[in-house]
Amino acid sequence: MPSVPSKTIHLSVNGRPVEAEVECRMPLAELLRDRLRLTGTHIGCDTSQCGACTVHVDGVAVRSCTLFAVQADGSEVRTIEGVGTAGEPHPLQAAFQEHHALQCGFCTPGMIMTALELLRTVPSPTPETVRHYLEGNLCRCTGYYNIVKAVLAAAAETQGTGRPADEGSGHASL
Ligand code: FES
Ligand code: FES
Repeated sequence: MPSVPSKTIHLSVNGRPVEAEVECRMPLAELLRDRLRLTGTHIGCDTSQCGACTVHVDGVAVRSCTLFAVQADGSEVRTIEGVGTAGEPHPLQAAFQEHHALQCGFCTPGMIMTALELLRTVPSPTPETVRHYLEGNLCRCTGYYNIVKAVLAAAAETQGTGRPADEGSGHASL
C-alpha cells in the first residue's frame, strides 16, 4: 500500500509556536484535538455544516473540520482555549454564562469563535445581524434566543469599556 504523503508544518497556536509532521489529508481539527489536546474545538458533523469546529486562522473564522492542517502552515491559529481564562473570561464567555446561552455546551466554542469575528467586524450589531452571522452555527439545545441575547450583551459591554471585542485575556498552554 502506498504511504500517505506527509509534510512538516509550522504554525502558531494560541500564541505558541507549533511544529508538526502531518499527513496531507489531516484536518486542522484533528491536529488541534488529537495532537495538541485542544479539545475545546468540537467536531459535530465533520462536513462544514454545524460550526462546532470553528477556529480562527489569521483572524478569520474557519471550519477546522474541512481545512487541512497543511493549509494552516505558517498561519496564526486561535482556538477557544486562547480566548479568556476560567478566572478572567472574555466578555462573550461571561455573557454566555450570565444569559444562560448554553445547555450541553457542545456548540458553544464554535459559537464564541464566530461571535468574536462578528464583534470585530460589526462592533454594535443588531439582533438580526447576530442571527444572520450565527446561522451557520447549529445548536440543538437552546433555541438560540439566549445566544443572541448574550452576543448583544457582550457587544454592549465591549463598546462600553472600549475593550476590543476579540481581545483575549490569556492563552492556554499547549
Ligand atoms: Fe466542522 Fe461541523 S464539525 S462544521
Ligand atoms: Fe447544546 Fe448548543 S448548547 S448544542
